[in-house]
Amino acid sequence: MPTIMPIFGTRPEAIKMAPIVAALQDSDLFDCVVTVTGQHREMLDQVNELFGVVPDHDLNILQQRQSLSAIMTRTIDGLDKLFTHDKPDAVIVQGDTTTSTAGAIAAFYHSIPVVHVEAGLRSGDLFSPFPEEANRKLTSQLASLHLAPTSVSKANLVAEGVDPHDVVVTGNTVIDALLTTVGKKIPFTDHRLEELASTGRQILLVTTHRRENQGDTMRGMGRALARIADAEPDLVIVLPAHKNPAVRETVLPALEGKPNIIVTEPLAYGEFTRMLALAHIVLTDSGGVQEEAPSLGKPVLVMRENTERPEAVHAGTVALIGTDEDRIVKEVDRLLNEQAHFDSMANAVNPYGDGKAALRTLAALSQLFGLGLRVEDFTV
Ligand code: UD1
Ligand code: UDP
Repeated sequence: MPTIMPIFGTRPEAIKMAPIVAALQDSDLFDCVVTVTGQHREMLDQVNELFGVVPDHDLNILQQRQSLSAIMTRTIDGLDKLFTHDKPDAVIVQGDTTTSTAGAIAAFYHSIPVVHVEAGLRSGDLFSPFPEEANRKLTSQLASLHLAPTSVSKANLVAEGVDPHDVVVTGNTVIDALLTTVGKKIPFTDHRLEELASTGRQILLVTTHRRENQGDTMRGMGRALARIADAEPDLVIVLPAHKNPAVRETVLPALEGKPNIIVTEPLAYGEFTRMLALAHIVLTDSGGVQEEAPSLGKPVLVMRENTERPEAVHAGTVALIGTDEDRIVKEVDRLLNEQAHFDSMANAVNPYGDGKAALRTLAALSQLFGLGLRVEDFTV
């Protein structure tokens, strides 16, 4: 029986890999050996605990304020040692983190086929998001099987010369994860959120972490949030703060003492999806949140200059607003105070998946190993 090794290390990879791990473990065609790099620690463990994923190997590479090179070298070194005595028949890497690209390189050096989940996303700017656009392009060069979430991402790969037969459109596994989690009404561990949920007050849910936004841009985001809180006393801003100290020390100072801003630790995935469902508006620079919020019909303002996820922008649920402080304030104000504008963005759309991405992934893996046939591609 072929052994498949999912390799992941950060929160979003863990969320998006969980449905695949579950499908592999349920299957009688494959053995599944889970390896985590530990690029994230608390934020990774939080997800694995929720989905009941127990890693077989943990490289435990996290360092505070780690450099990109440290993540890359520590991951390749750890996997290199692992592959000398535990060589899977294929590895699966997810998305565009440095863990995923390092995993692809280490596997390639050991002649292990690489399966790339969430393949083919492109912003078209090598430096934004940084380093993710480069990471995902590098991984595409090494992959044997490309699992594109949408037909747009498949077209990107084919335009770069990837053989269409090596691409399967699966939908994004984040929608599988979301659909199995969002309805569960998991209690908030932070009592302020449970109280807020019972009041029915309007919530602006905010997340930020992108490397290219760190520094002055994030200070501006903090000031924008403080101005929104002052101007809209009935609104409550909820900000689950990323663990990165570079994020906390720039965004949070401007928020201190504001009665209608709640800053929390990263929310466990079940709590976060419940907060997404409660939110009136979402303001974010996250990739995964851009995919999830549209399926819940939430208007999303994306604090970035570009996106590799154009599908929900085209559907009208996501707007790219850049990172300028005044613009952030203006765009939130518009959504709060112009009902027609809010209504035009508050459409539930599912351009990223139908909850069956893990099933299509399993079928594509079966075809790769001559054990079955792929199933029909995901279409909207
Ligand atoms: C990483 C990914 C990014 C992804 C994001 C999801 C890279 C280069 N970046 O960015 O693509 O969008 O994860 O959140 O792969 N930290 C902790 N505990 C944790 C997590 C982080 O203490 O559980 C702190 C550490 O000080 C760490 C820092 O946050 O050095 C940054 O973590 P890192 O993984 O390097 O970058 P992210 O910004 O999280
Ligand atoms: N998320 C979470 N708790 C939080 C914030 C986000 O579980 O407090 C989830 C969110 O639902 C999404 C994923 O984390 O699935 C996105 O992770 P992140 O924004 O860190 O990374 P990105 O998607 O930008 O790579």
